Amino acid sequence: MLKIGTLTLQQPTVLAPMAGLTDRVLRRLMDEIGGCGLLVSEMIAAEGLRRRNRRTLEMIADFKTRTPQFIQLFGANPEALAEAAAIVSAETAFAGIDVNMGCPVPKVVRSGAGAGLLLDLPRLASVVAAIRKSTCLPLTVKVRLGFNKVNVLETTKVIEEQGADAVAVHFRLKSEGYTGSAHWDLAAAVKENLRIPLLGNGDIMTAAFALEKLRTVDGVLIGRGALANPFLFREIAGQVTSENDMGAYVRRLGALIGEHYPERKRLGKLKAFTRFLLLSRPGCRSWKRRIFLSQDFGEARTFLEETFACP
Ligand SMILES: Cc1cc2nc3c(=O)[nH]c(=O)nc-3n(C[C@H](O)[C@H](O)[C@H](O)COP(=O)(O)O)c2cc1C
Repeated sequence: MLKIGTLTLQQPTVLAPMAGLTDRVLRRLMDEIGGCGLLVSEMIAAEGLRRRNRRTLEMIADFKTRTPQFIQLFGANPEALAEAAAIVSAETAFAGIDVNMGCPVPKVVRSGAGAGLLLDLPRLASVVAAIRKSTCLPLTVKVRLGFNKVNVLETTKVIEEQGADAVAVHFRLKSEGYTGSAHWDLAAAVKENLRIPLLGNGDIMTAAFALEKLRTVDGVLIGRGALANPFLFREIAGQVTSENDMGAYVRRLGALIGEHYPERKRLGKLKAFTRFLLLSRPGCRSWKRRIFLSQDFGEARTFLEETFACP
C-alpha cells in the first residue's frame, strides 16, 4: 500500500496534473471508472487563491469522489504558497497538496515558479518549508530531472528534508519539454536516495509499462496515457476493457462537459479531451477530421458517440 503522509492510497497510481485537462470533468470521470489511487487538479495559482480570485475559486470548487483528490499549487513566493495551502486546508475538501516545480511555460518560469524553482534551491527549500508549516495535509512536490542539467538527487533530498510526504519526478529535464523519451533509467538512483515515497512519471501508455515501472518506484503518475485510454488505471488494477466501455465513456464525457461548461467553451473542451483519445486510434483519419473541423459541440459530440458506439 502506498502511503502519502496520513493518506493510504488504494492503488499506487495517480492521475497527473494537466492544465486545462484535469478539471472537474476528467477527475469525475476517472473517479467513476475507478482503479486510480489519487486524482490531481490542474495547476492553480497560489496568488489567485490567496486573493480569492473568482476564476480561481471556480476552478477549485470541489465535489465528493471516492478517490482522494489533491490540489496542485504553483507560485514562487513562499508566503503566498503557505497562505494558499492554509486556505485549502481550512476551506476545501482536498485531501492533500501538490506543488508544481516542473512547469516549463516561459511566463511561469520567468516568474520563478514551476521549473524555475529547480534553479534556485534555497527558494525551493523555503517554499516547501513554508507550506509544511501552514498545513498538516499530505504534501507532495512534482519536479523534473532538472532545468537544463540533472539535479534531481539534490532537489528531491531538499524536498524530503523540508517535510514533504512524497515526491513525484517527471523523468525529463525542463529543457526537453515533452520531447524524446522519459529517462526512467535514473529512477533507481532517485529512489535509493530517498526515504519518502517516489512517484515516477513520463510516457506511461500501457498497463504493462506501468507495472514494470512499479518494480522500481512506489507509485506512478499518468497524464496523457489516461486521456488516450481512460481505462488505463483500471487495467493496471487488473480489469479488462471492452469497446462498450469506450462508448459509455464518450457519452459521459459529452454529458459532463455540457453540465460543467457554458456553451462557448464546450466544443474546445471536447476537442482537448478527444485529441489524446484519437491519437491512440490510428487509421481513423476521416472521423478525426470531422471532429476537429466541427464548429458545433452538439454535432461533434453526436459524431463521437456514433463512432464509438459502432466501432
Ligand atoms: C496538456 C498538458 C498540461 C499539463 N499541465 C501540467 C500541470 O498543470 N502541472 C504539472 O505539474 N504538470 C503538467 N503537465 C505535465 C504532466 O503532469 C506530466 O508530467 C507529463 O505529461 C508527462 O507524463 P505523461 O507522459 O504521463 O503525460 C501537463 C502536461 C500536458 C500534456
